[in-house]
Amino acid sequence: MKTEIFTSKQLKQAARLIQRGELVAFPTETVYGLGANALEPKAVKKIFKAKGRPSDNPLIVHIANIKQLHEIAFVPPETQKIIEAFWPGPLTIIVKNKSIPREVTGGLDTVAVRMPNSKIALKLIKNAGVPIAAPSANISGTPSSTSFKHVLDDFDGKIAGIIKSNRCKIGIESTVIDLTTKKPIVLRSGGLSFEELKAVMPNLILTSNKRMTRAKSPGMKYKHYSPNAKIILCNRCTTEALEAYKIKYEKRNKKTKIIIAQKTKKFAKELFSMFRQCDKDKVDVILISSVEEDGIGLAIMDRIRKAASMIVS
Ligand code: TXA
Ligand code: MG
Repeated sequence: MKTEIFTSKQLKQAARLIQRGELVAFPTETVYGLGANALEPKAVKKIFKAKGRPSDNPLIVHIANIKQLHEIAFVPPETQKIIEAFWPGPLTIIVKNKSIPREVTGGLDTVAVRMPNSKIALKLIKNAGVPIAAPSANISGTPSSTSFKHVLDDFDGKIAGIIKSNRCKIGIESTVIDLTTKKPIVLRSGGLSFEELKAVMPNLILTSNKRMTRAKSPGMKYKHYSPNAKIILCNRCTTEALEAYKIKYEKRNKKTKIIIAQKTKKFAKELFSMFRQCDKDKVDVILISSVEEDGIGLAIMDRIRKAASMIVS
C-alpha cells in the first residue's frame, strides 16, 4: 500500500481516509497516534494488525468536543471540573462505555477518552465527523513515535496516511485516570503530573499496587517502549558507577551508551527519540540513570522502568 503524506493544510483529505475505514497517523501534543474510525470495528481491527498489538489491550478514543463524550460514554458529574481544568490536554479518562464497539475497549465495560491539545488532531477528528480510536503510532512494544520520521520508519507502506508535523510538544503519553472507581486512580502516569491533578482532585490516588493497575489497565502487563538495545536502569548510580558499567560492557564488545536522565520537560520530550536513535546507531546496551519521581519525573521513570530489562544500583 502507498502511504499518503499530508500536510496540516490537507486534513480534509486525511479525514476522508478515516471515513473510508483506513488508518491515518496524526500528531498530538503527547505522541503520534495511529487513528481509525472508533465506531467501525473493521477499521479498528486494522490498528491491531498494523501494530502487532494484542486485541485485549484497549484503545483511547479521541474526541474534539464534549458532545462526543456524552455520545460515547456515561460520565459522572464530578468529571466536569476535571474536563474544565485539563481538556484539551494530556489527560485520558476511563469512564463507563455507552456506544463504543468492543474491538476498541477490549471487551471491557469502560472506555478511555481524551481530547488532545493539538490543532491538527482536533481538526482531523472534526473533519472526520467521528471519534478516532488511536494508540501510540509505534510497533507494539517499541518506543512511541514523537516525530513524523518515527512513524514513517514503523509504518511506511503499511497504513493509508500520515500527517506531517513538527515534533510532539510533550513527547510522553497522556496520564490515564480511572473515574469508575470509588476514588479516582492514576493507571498510567504521563504528560500531566500527579501534583497538578491532585490540586483539582484531592481524593486522587496514585497506586503502586502493580497487580491492581495490571488488572485495571490491560496494557500494563505488556513490555513497553523498548528499543532493540538492552536497557539497564542504574538506580541512583553516580557518574563513576555508570562509567564503570560502560567499561564492563565494552570489554564484552557491546556498543554501550550512557544516558543521564533529567527531571525536565526537555528530557521527557527527547526520551523516545533517544531510544530510537540508539537503534539507528546499533547500540547494544543503554545505561540510563534514574531521576526523582515527582513532577514529570514520575512519568519518565515509569517509561524507563517498563523499557528496562535489568535494574542495577
Ligand atoms: O498520549 C496518549 O495517550 C497517546 C496519544 C496518541 O493519545 N495514546 C496512547 O495510547 O498512549 P496507547 O494505546 O499506547 O495507551 C493507552 C493505554 C494502554 O495502557 C491501555 O491499556 C489503556 O490506555 N486503556 C485503554 N482503554 C482502557 C480502559 N477502558 N481501561 C483501562 N485502561 C485502558
Ligand atoms: Mg503505546
